[in-house]
Amino acid sequence: MPEPKPFERLPGTVRPTHYSITLQPNLVKCIFQGCEEVSLDIKEATREIKFNTLELTLRDISLKLSDGEVVKPASTDMSPSTETATLTFERPLPAGPATLCMSFSGELNDKMKGMYRSKYTAENGEERYSAVTQFEATDARRCFPCWDEPALKATFDITLVVPHDRVPLSNMPEISRETHESDSNLIVVKFARTPLMSTYLVAVVVGEYDYVEDTSSDGIRVRVYTPVGKQEQGRFALEVATKVLPYYKEYFNIAYPLPKMDLIAIADFSVGAMENWGLVTYRETCLLVDPHNTSASQRQWIALVVGHELAHQWFGNLVTMEWWTHLWLNEGYATFVEFLCVDHLFPEYDIWTQFVTNTYVRALELDCLKNSHPIEVPVGHPSEVDEIFDDISYSKGASVIRMLHCYLGDKDFRVGMNKYLTRHQYANTYTEDLWAALSEASSKPVAEVMSTWTKQTGFPMITVKSHQDGNNRVLTLTQQRFLADGSTDDSSQWMVPVSISTQQNPSKVAQEVLLERRSVQVVLEGVSEATWVKLNPGTVGYYRTQYPPEMLTQLIPAIQDKCLPPLDRLGVFNDLFSMVQAGHTSTVEVLKVLRAFEDEHDFTVWSAVHNCVARLNQLLSHTDFHPAFAAFVRHLFSRIGQKLGWEAKPGEKHLDTLLRSLVLGQLGLYGDEQVVAEARKRLAAHVAHTTTLPADLRSPVYKTVVAQADEKTYEQMLKLYREADLHEEKDRISRSLGATRDPNLIQRVLQFAMSSEVRNQDTIFVIISVAMTAPGRSAAWAFFKTHHQELVDRYEGGYLVTRLIKYITENFASEDMAREVETFFRERQIPGTERTVQQSLETIRLNAAWLNRDQQAIKKYLTDLQL
Ligand code: BES
Ligand code: ZN
Repeated sequence: MPEPKPFERLPGTVRPTHYSITLQPNLVKCIFQGCEEVSLDIKEATREIKFNTLELTLRDISLKLSDGEVVKPASTDMSPSTETATLTFERPLPAGPATLCMSFSGELNDKMKGMYRSKYTAENGEERYSAVTQFEATDARRCFPCWDEPALKATFDITLVVPHDRVPLSNMPEISRETHESDSNLIVVKFARTPLMSTYLVAVVVGEYDYVEDTSSDGIRVRVYTPVGKQEQGRFALEVATKVLPYYKEYFNIAYPLPKMDLIAIADFSVGAMENWGLVTYRETCLLVDPHNTSASQRQWIALVVGHELAHQWFGNLVTMEWWTHLWLNEGYATFVEFLCVDHLFPEYDIWTQFVTNTYVRALELDCLKNSHPIEVPVGHPSEVDEIFDDISYSKGASVIRMLHCYLGDKDFRVGMNKYLTRHQYANTYTEDLWAALSEASSKPVAEVMSTWTKQTGFPMITVKSHQDGNNRVLTLTQQRFLADGSTDDSSQWMVPVSISTQQNPSKVAQEVLLERRSVQVVLEGVSEATWVKLNPGTVGYYRTQYPPEMLTQLIPAIQDKCLPPLDRLGVFNDLFSMVQAGHTSTVEVLKVLRAFEDEHDFTVWSAVHNCVARLNQLLSHTDFHPAFAAFVRHLFSRIGQKLGWEAKPGEKHLDTLLRSLVLGQLGLYGDEQVVAEARKRLAAHVAHTTTLPADLRSPVYKTVVAQADEKTYEQMLKLYREADLHEEKDRISRSLGATRDPNLIQRVLQFAMSSEVRNQDTIFVIISVAMTAPGRSAAWAFFKTHHQELVDRYEGGYLVTRLIKYITENFASEDMAREVETFFRERQIPGTERTVQQSLETIRLNAAWLNRDQQAIKKYLTDLQL
């Protein structure tokens, strides 16, 4: 990895206590002006005041001392590289309070950072702009000069000067509105003072919006703001939000501290959603539901996103991490809690099982790389901060909290959470503060156990040995770091709460033990040799289990006859698959076990199967026997495909709806003739407006058809795209286009991704969709090589480019490609993508080794099957 950039935090000598900020965005010229008065506490006499600012022009800087004297700085030193300005005064400023005043101006940029412009089409067809803010992690400094660190909390009085016909919003409710004294087209709107809060949570929005409104049972006014005329699309999120607020109030035993909660859909938005206190901003697709055009999976996603952002109102906003090293406290915790609350609101989603197939597995898959990083990671420079919004902070963070929740039990966990939030409200914390509160509540060694998970990279593989001692089964459990390349590393050790289940009662924990050392023996009384024993019931522990062949053989029938609960079926399978990737077991073993799933009916188990099939598909797309693999997958999914059919059953369950879309999508992708023909027919009817495709089937149908598309079908898809009004539908179409295998069409999709028809926020997902097929993979990489500068400039680095790089590179599978990618990024360093590039290189080399190791055996197995 390249050396970290030099970085220093702001000196603690001068701290802000309050900001009064006026902002006046010009929505036509796309610029803004502002002025601010910052109340400061000068801790010790100093000649310098240093604060953050970036891409702003500062004017009329003066400092008012407590005795009323006004002094001007002798010099103002702007440093774009450190994103700071330093004011130097002639004489030392005395310790005590002072007020810093200045005016500033900047551009409403198109990078979705700081205060930026977001485009929409007005009802008369005119293109217009809203002004929107996105500050996390370090972009408040692009909107107003500030002490832009999470621990420097202050209160804020925000004033907006806006055209009288626009909606002005900020964190707090409006308290006054007057016509501007010199321009009757403008209004001056003041908002109530915020509580003590971090700069990254300040927000303003100015634009044209409608809303729906309700009051939660705990008395909070909740509104969902939508584009004009679409307020009904805010209904679902409104229902969720009004239920979630009282749920969290009860769960944390602390009331939501602000008088209002606004949720708003923003047309151009870099991430999915942002938890600004009292004014949560969302991508349109993460908030809006159109009953006829929103799929069940999207609705579920919206519930999760709303649950996540509202959890931050307590965890993140009320209590905030001291520094970005502890970002995981925010994101890991909110990711855990979003599932708690969605499980409460929508038990039919079986959301905890989905947690395992998505969140938990995703974390383990990244964390088995040598280039993973610990949950708590030292970061300094903004580009390093951006890069840790990753699957380690989110998914591993949430997974270890889930493990802890299970180890402590819900009751103690809640008591501890309440202690933590109460003790640190309106202040900042380190990871240790959370452990302290949870230990007090539970009397368990929380810090000792948990620091092994947050301070070390990776996770253990627990190897099981078993022997019989009369009536008792004796297990020896040994831990060792699990690494994707199958190598061993004895330098780390974890404290692992291990639980065990047995055939007598598959869904009950038979025994629990805290694995504190390298190895431990467990005696299971009265458990015979003839029955199965399984580690990690419920797949709660953040580790992999390696069974000896005879124990695994005993578990397979329990998968087949479904005696094992779904989470355990997919747990066994997933662990086995990871052993295969690491070369501990042959891929053929996993192909054999896959066949045990042909009669499976559970969505979550199927989605685990699908994850593994998708990995194998990427790998085997580099071989000449890929068609035999495709036949294998078609066969695997055919029985469940027949059973589900194309038509939703009246009153069918949410998970069956998701399952149908998954299964038909797989059959279509791997070229099942019947499914392809039916998809074509249904798409034709949809295009002709004779029978509308249900939203849940659109993605699988689009992808199936596009995979075999000619020019004409492609044009048809573009037409659908242009006609679509709902952003979710546009996404569905644009992300299906990459399924094409036609070299000319692939080029057209890549051009389309960069065109003005696709918003910057969506471009990278269209390119990624191209990279998911074998011919698209090389085309997308070639395209990136030519356009990388344009892409980096478009986003000024950040999260979207990092995602793009990951997905377009990690599926190569040869040393040659590893070298090519390595050289490319060595010659062109893109800040904030360094670790991602290292992870991709490692994955490419792992793929190459995997292919070398198992390719011949897989080929033989698949061709001998003769499906
Ligand atoms: N705080 C984040 C938003 C964020 C992400 C800011 C990355 C800066 C960089 C927010 O709470 C969040 O986590 N959003 C997620 C959605 C969530 C449901 C996982 C997102 O945007 O992907
Ligand atoms: Zn979050």
